[in-house]
Amino acid sequence: MRILLFSGKGGVGKTSLAAATGLQLSRLGYRTLVMSVDPAHSLADAFDLETGLFHAKTGDPYAIDERLAIHEVNIQKEIKRHWKEISAYVVSVLRTTGISDVEAEELAILPGMEELSAMMYVNQFRRERRYDAIVLDCAPTAESMRFVSMPTTLEWYMKHIFPFQRGIVKAVRPIANRMSPVELPPDNYFANIQELFAKLDGIGELLEDPKITSVRLVTNPERMVLRETQRAFVYFSLHGLTVDGVIVNRVLPEAVKDDWFAEWRASQGKILEEIEAYFAPVAVRQVPLFTHEVLGRERLEDLAATLYGEKTDPAAVSRTEAPYSFGKRDGHYEVRLRLPFAAKGEVGLFKKGDELVVEIGTLRRHIGLPTSMASLMPSRARLENRVLTVEMKES
Ligand SMILES: Nc1ncnc2c1ncn2[C@@H]1O[C@H](COP(=O)(O)OP(=O)(O)O)[C@@H](O)[C@H]1O
Ligand SMILES: [Mg+2]
Repeated sequence: MRILLFSGKGGVGKTSLAAATGLQLSRLGYRTLVMSVDPAHSLADAFDLETGLFHAKTGDPYAIDERLAIHEVNIQKEIKRHWKEISAYVVSVLRTTGISDVEAEELAILPGMEELSAMMYVNQFRRERRYDAIVLDCAPTAESMRFVSMPTTLEWYMKHIFPFQRGIVKAVRPIANRMSPVELPPDNYFANIQELFAKLDGIGELLEDPKITSVRLVTNPERMVLRETQRAFVYFSLHGLTVDGVIVNRVLPEAVKDDWFAEWRASQGKILEEIEAYFAPVAVRQVPLFTHEVLGRERLEDLAATLYGEKTDPAAVSRTEAPYSFGKRDGHYEVRLRLPFAAKGEVGLFKKGDELVVEIGTLRRHIGLPTSMASLMPSRARLENRVLTVEMKES
């Protein structure tokens, strides 16, 4: 099974591109599911479905045709299905603060529930071998970062905090419930957490396997959007996911000659060059700004044809290694960079803002650094088996 994750800033075109990708995959014979993880769903709208009708049915994949289904994760349904005890406990705690029932229930939708629910489905569908490809239409970048970092965080929680908390609650409940205004979580709350965790088992490995999961970053040829895309690239790499494609959407076509757009054309051209250089060797594709909104199946099919043509298979695995990774060894932070075969010559290292710039002969790579490493300076580099390891130190 393949999982394709479409991520990017709000409004760049993730939903349209995820839907178009779903159409292309199903046309090529894959049993495909496009799943929306963005709480502000617009997947059904992209297909121009009657939303009322759609929502009545949702909570489960909805068949567009024989091989293509779409699914908008519906948090209300998910809470009833998976989070009952947890959310009942949260509501009971919130009530003690004097908040109304309706408000408490609203607040009991905790951050991350949507993402976790989506991951449970991905895991379930994989076990059932129900789809050959799952396209995830993610929430804007920050939330999708939470999505991919969650498996690691959860595992840590389950190993270190959960047993401890559960033990403490057991020990203190007899007295605490008499004294404290807030109920301690009941046993079924813990049972619920444990059950959810079991449903998520293995998802971390799934996301980190580049033969299964690939990230496609969607961006526009605009400075602000590009910045966020670069940060996303860094953080996906940090969490061990492989970005194997960048799609620049809404590029002004050549045909636009109007003076009004002259400056736009010039700045877009410049940014497109920068995008190619920054993300290399990851493939960059462009999609023009259409003369119309991309609404309904026919227009989505046009978009798919523009992006992929007749034969391009969006599920093809084009990269099996992350271009770089971050790590820590003997207390030092390291950046590991995989070099193409052609790379030869003196290694030059310097910092430019938050980026580490590595030069080898004619090859130049800009590597955005995560916050924890942003203030560090490169100190040494060593080359082993085509991997350049750069040690980072306090300046
Ligand atoms: N290449 C394009 N040309 C014209 N309109 C587009 C293009 N790509 C997306 N749109 C339109 O832009 C709007 C936002 O796109 P959407 O896919 O919902 O973005 P996101 O999911 O990233 O928020 C939609 O109305 C969509 O039809
Ligand atoms: Mg969207």
